[in-house]
Amino acid sequence: MYKKLNILDEKNKLLRQISHEVTFPLPKEDLELIDKMQEELKLSQIEEYEKKYNLRPGTGLAFVQLGILKRIIVIVDEESEGIFRNYVVINPKIISYSEELIAADAGEGCLSVNREVDGHVPRYARITVTGFDIHGKPIKIRAREELAIAFQHEIDHLNGILFYDRINKKKPFFGENEIRLI
Ligand code: NI
Repeated sequence: MYKKLNILDEKNKLLRQISHEVTFPLPKEDLELIDKMQEELKLSQIEEYEKKYNLRPGTGLAFVQLGILKRIIVIVDEESEGIFRNYVVINPKIISYSEELIAADAGEGCLSVNREVDGHVPRYARITVTGFDIHGKPIKIRAREELAIAFQHEIDHLNGILFYDRINKKKPFFGENEIRLI
């Protein structure tokens, strides 16, 4: 039997808290959870397993979504058909970002938000993220387009922010000439 992650729903107030900086070495439970998150995110993006295990497709998760207030994010990005790349960043920080903004035209989704939320979420088109890998080694990642959106979405979770907080309630959609829609 496949045991699914227990992902908190948006109604859970923990999701509105600020996660804490992490120190090294990481305990074994955290390493195991990171593995499990990577596995489930990958399976959720493969149609056969998505159906078989009744998963919601997702590209990223933050530890707080599993009820643990630690600054750890996991992203599994399908770089090309069937080729997945895993990113695990501990204590991530956006150290620089482009002036250009983008938004996912179809809007964003979140594994903690079990409903459709319409609207464009403005994000930086390109960012540089620093942080640490699971061994405590400093890392630096440059991300653009969808991957940049994924990083900004997950880092927001560490600060208690959900994607729809960033949708303008009065004007939820941008025009083509206001922001680049991807
Ligand atoms: Ni999310």
